[in-house]
Amino acid sequence: MAVRSADARQGRRLHPVPIRIMHWINAFAMIVMITSGWGIYDDDVIVRGFLFPGWARLGGWAAPSLLYHFAGMWLLALNGVAYLTYGVVTGRFRERFLPIRARELVSTVRDTLHLRIAHEDLTTYNAVQKALYIIVIVAGVSQVVTGLAIWKPVQFSGLVSLLGGFQTARVIHFAGMAVIVGFLLVHVLLSLLVPRTLWAMLAGGPRLDRSRTP
Ligand code: HEM
Repeated sequence: MAVRSADARQGRRLHPVPIRIMHWINAFAMIVMITSGWGIYDDDVIVRGFLFPGWARLGGWAAPSLLYHFAGMWLLALNGVAYLTYGVVTGRFRERFLPIRARELVSTVRDTLHLRIAHEDLTTYNAVQKALYIIVIVAGVSQVVTGLAIWKPVQFSGLVSLLGGFQTARVIHFAGMAVIVGFLLVHVLLSLLVPRTLWAMLAGGPRLDRSRTP
C-alpha cells in the first residue's frame, strides 16, 4: 500500500508494463516474420542472384516458412494494433516522438557518427531516436498492409491496384523488410552501447514526473 502511494506520487515508469510487454512481443514477432519471410523469398527471388542463407531462414523453405509467417502475422498485427492504440490514446507518441527539430537531428547524427552517444537522460529520446521510431512504426504498418495485399490479392484487389499491382506490392513488402532489418541493426547496436536503455526496457526504468504521459 505504501509502495503504491509512493508510485502514484512519483508517477509511472519510463516504460510502463504494457509497453515492455508489447515491445518484447513485437521484437519476437518481427524476428519470426523476417526470418520466415526470407524462406519464402528464396523460392521466388526479387533481386536476381540474391538469396538468404539457409541457416537464417525460419522453416528452411517456402512451405514451412509460410506457416511460420502466417502464425507470426497474427501476433505482430494484434500486438501492433494494441501498441498503436495505447500510444495514441495515452498521448505517449505525441510526448515521446514529437517534435523533431532538423537542427537537433543533424547534430545528433554527427555526434553518433563520432561515437559520442551520451544519452544521459533516458526519459527523453533524441531526434535520431524519434525519427527512427516513427520510421519503423510506419514501416511496420506498411508491412501489414502490403502483406494483406499479397496474401489475398483477389479479396483485396482494390488495395493491390492502389499499391500499383501485385509485383509492386511485393517489392514494397521486401523494401519494408530491408528498412526494418536496417533499423534493427542500429537499434540493437545502440542499446548495447548504452546498456542502461536495455535494462530500462526490461525493468521499467526511472519514474517520471507525474505530469508526463505513460
Ligand atoms: C530484438 C532486439 C531489440 C532490442 C534489444 C531492443 C531494445 C530497445 C530498447 C533498449 C529500447 C528503449 C530505448 C531507450 O529508452 O532509449 C527500445 C525501444 C523501442 N524499440 Fe526496441 N529493441 C529490439 C527490437 C525492436 C524491434 C524489432 C522493433 C520494431 C521493429 C523495435 C522498436 C522499438 C520502438 C518503437 C521503441 C520505442 C518504444 C516507445 O517508447 O514507445 N524494437 N528497444
